[in-house]
Amino acid sequence: MRHFPADFTWGAATSAYQIEGAARTGGRGPSIWDTFAREPGRVLHGDTGDIACDHYHRFPEDVGLLGQLGVTAYRFSISWPRVQPDGRGPVNTEGLDFYSSLVDALLEYGITPLVTLYHWDLPVPLSYDGGWLSRNTAGRFADYATACHERLGDRVTWWTTLNEPWCSSFLAYAAGRHAPGRTNDREAFVAAHHQLLAHGRATGALRDAAPEAAVGITLNFADVVPASDDEADADAARRVDAIMNRMFLEPIVTGEYPDEVLDLMDASGASDAFADGDLHIVGEPIDFLGVNYYTRHRVLGGSDRQPGSPWAGCDDVAEEAPAHPVTGMGWEICPDGLGVLLARLHRDAPGLPLYITENGAAFPDYANPEGEIRDPARVGFLDAHLREVHAAINDGIDVRGYFVWSLLDNFEWAEGYSQRFGLVYVDYPSQQRRPKDSFWWYADVIASGGLLDRSV
Ligand code: FCB
Repeated sequence: MRHFPADFTWGAATSAYQIEGAARTGGRGPSIWDTFAREPGRVLHGDTGDIACDHYHRFPEDVGLLGQLGVTAYRFSISWPRVQPDGRGPVNTEGLDFYSSLVDALLEYGITPLVTLYHWDLPVPLSYDGGWLSRNTAGRFADYATACHERLGDRVTWWTTLNEPWCSSFLAYAAGRHAPGRTNDREAFVAAHHQLLAHGRATGALRDAAPEAAVGITLNFADVVPASDDEADADAARRVDAIMNRMFLEPIVTGEYPDEVLDLMDASGASDAFADGDLHIVGEPIDFLGVNYYTRHRVLGGSDRQPGSPWAGCDDVAEEAPAHPVTGMGWEICPDGLGVLLARLHRDAPGLPLYITENGAAFPDYANPEGEIRDPARVGFLDAHLREVHAAINDGIDVRGYFVWSLLDNFEWAEGYSQRFGLVYVDYPSQQRRPKDSFWWYADVIASGGLLDRSV
């Protein structure tokens, strides 16, 4: 048996837009994902988050599932436009009531809430002022963070500011694949910088309001490797690694952007977004780092950048087709990459406790005639990644918890409902939830505190 430390946090994760639905209920205003999803061709099959898993109405059942699973923590996000429909000014009390009830339900099961303040659903009125291209959005975000703390801070003491700012800047502003669907490299760097600033301002605001709270950020890291030994590929990997991994980690940990990032920002004309003192704010100390890990990227230099590529400023870089096996998303399954990443974070973010805040896989699940959902590929995926976490802990790396993405099948952004990441199968027409085999497997892992030595 591979035992995890007794106080290891076992969790599952979701996000507001992906599960809540109730898009026009309870005073919620529109987010940029509501409007983006309505633009033709943006989301597969024209799916939207209008109804999603109807979690807004069904949260007691979903919390019951978390109880059955036996998790000790649950990571969810707050929808900014549900709390502050205009992105500024008075709060919508009914929106905060919902999160307050959710937190109470979790605490009744002894489940600790980990709250993400921003998982990509910017209130539409802020986009009229430029959205993440405006510096003002950073200040607005700190005000919103304070409002959330005022209502929930008596019970929530664990916060992450942003989820994966790389996606909400590079996928959103360079690749055009996420809201607001822009394809402008300069804007991607500017949006990323303002999101980092928003993180720093919100961290400072939460610190002032709640000195005892644990505040961090969730970043998505990928193992970036050159497609060959060729010098051009190595150079491409260095630059992609800079914008995927280093651009977010280093200013937070060291208060500075790496030179590679500064060069790419300069070349994209984004340097004018800086103001004196910004990096000091971005570098506000954090208490832990949330790590999301799914796959690796193999990159080629001396190539033409592909359409929809998020790699701003890297016009001579292409991505090599993933090696097999892949998940339903077409993402290469590469558990070793997680081990490599944890060792790297141990070195580059010394002393910072790490939590895996997302890891999981989509596969084409279906209910068999007996109503069971057999998902051995997901069990294998989770098992292999947890083994990497276990090995990292044995090597002295301070990994304190693991959250599966996701509790429920849900709205997978540009892929709509076509990709099922859940431990629980959701039959969308009836909204019936059915635990998959992986749910019972994870429940056993949690109950026994570790992994069996046999591989699955
Ligand atoms: C991450 C997102 C999460 C989910 C998974 C599959 O990038 O944070 O919302 O979509 O990917």
